[in-house]
Amino acid sequence: MTKSLFVVSECAPLVKTGGLADVAGALPAALAAQGIAVRVLLPGYRTVLKQIGKTKTVARYDALFGGTAKLLACKVAGIDLLILDAPHLYDRDGAIYGDATGQDWPDNAERFAALCKVGAMVAADGVEGWRPDIVHGHDWQAGLTPEYMMALGVDAPFVFTIHNIAFHGNANAGKLKALGLDPARFHADHFEFWGQISALKAGLVGAAKINTVSQTYAEELLTPEFGIGMDGVLRARQADLSGIVNGIDLDAWNPEADPNIKTYKSPAGKAANKKTLQKTFGLGASDGPLCVLVSRLTEQKGIDLLLDALPALLDRGGQLALLGSGDPKLEVALLEAADRHENLSVKIGYDEALSHQMMAGGDVILVPSRFEPCGLTQLYGLRYGTVPLVALTGGLADTVINASPAALARGVATGLQFFPINAQALANAFARLAALYADSKVWKAMQRNAMKQPVGWETSAAAYKAIYDSLTEKQT
Ligand code: ADP
Ligand code: GLC
Repeated sequence: MTKSLFVVSECAPLVKTGGLADVAGALPAALAAQGIAVRVLLPGYRTVLKQIGKTKTVARYDALFGGTAKLLACKVAGIDLLILDAPHLYDRDGAIYGDATGQDWPDNAERFAALCKVGAMVAADGVEGWRPDIVHGHDWQAGLTPEYMMALGVDAPFVFTIHNIAFHGNANAGKLKALGLDPARFHADHFEFWGQISALKAGLVGAAKINTVSQTYAEELLTPEFGIGMDGVLRARQADLSGIVNGIDLDAWNPEADPNIKTYKSPAGKAANKKTLQKTFGLGASDGPLCVLVSRLTEQKGIDLLLDALPALLDRGGQLALLGSGDPKLEVALLEAADRHENLSVKIGYDEALSHQMMAGGDVILVPSRFEPCGLTQLYGLRYGTVPLVALTGGLADTVINASPAALARGVATGLQFFPINAQALANAFARLAALYADSKVWKAMQRNAMKQPVGWETSAAAYKAIYDSLTEKQT
């Protein structure tokens, strides 16, 4: 049985700011079904330590970037975890990447270097006699792992999954010594990036194989527009780069057995949930489609485009219920817009249960992102018969079948896509939406198609296994 160690900064259900946590929480079980045993190495943030029950201390570190630390083994929600309990790095008020005001922690470089270093040590020495065949890091927080593996002489291959290239994890060059990195490798061929230490680049350069979370994003990443400075590095590694689309946890997101909603098997069952949702959001009844959006509120997510295009939805009797948090400017702009429109309602915050109710009660899930490596909410939407209206980019391009005349004629459409990614094209898509929604036969067919899409992990887990096998020479 192949053993894989995930090095990752979030993992659902323990700690989550976005889709990374969903993937880290669901992929291990999907890999187990492929005969791969995964242990997930996760920082022992205060919120994580509060939730885990009984643990076993499997290693101790006397001096880990300025303090002592322990490695705790435990199992939560079926996931085999190794929790790095380092109070000087992770036991603090505020969020996992920054303080309560949203400012990044000044020692983030050390906080995640520690995670990487411990990952490398587990790969070198094992814990409880368990030593991984593969070390699998996710995003920049795991990027320095291959540097420490190299220093310790570990020969297990490192696989690096890019969930979002926008975050580079840069640190000042003055931190080279503090991070215990080899100054000789502070070089453009290794982890130096425009005079800084780049954890992301270290991962890209040090990985045996790199993948990202959709095929289209894998191609987009090679261009300056999407590569955000790393496109050159990625072009150099193109032969080892692939795209594997994310799945979703079919048990956690199941309209037939979801404790947060009135469960249903066919699109007809959505009507009762729609009524409840309208009530929750203080929206009245309307003939138009009820759109929902659940998201971090950042530049990436195209919320500003949506604000500009909204009249094209609302003037046609459409409605929007939005749940999100993030950039304070976007939060204010959304709340102000909601004050002006009776068919727009906004809740600022993070609410897992409500996000399920929105999938169940919405007619349409909106994802107007400028870029989207994969995106998960459109996948939830498909499973709940909530038709996705998405930007044509990244994983949104790969998972939704646009209601083009050809797709409608063949009866295969599952949603709507718009391109170019600007407010005008989104407004045009709202006009198309109104027409499709008004034709209840066409609309129901789209909903049924959506609900039939395979959105689980099976195929993608097999693709990860193929990568692992190619590195451990277990090809069959
Ligand atoms: P990203 O990882 O870029 O944030 P994804 O679509 O991959 O985007 O994943 C976002 C995840 O976070 C989804 O599971 C989504 O439901 C969840 N999410 C985002 N914002 C909220 C919120 N305010 N309340 C509840 N869940 C949220
Ligand atoms: C990132 C991306 C998102 C993706 C998620 C999980 O945060 O923004 O598109 O679905 O990671 O891979």
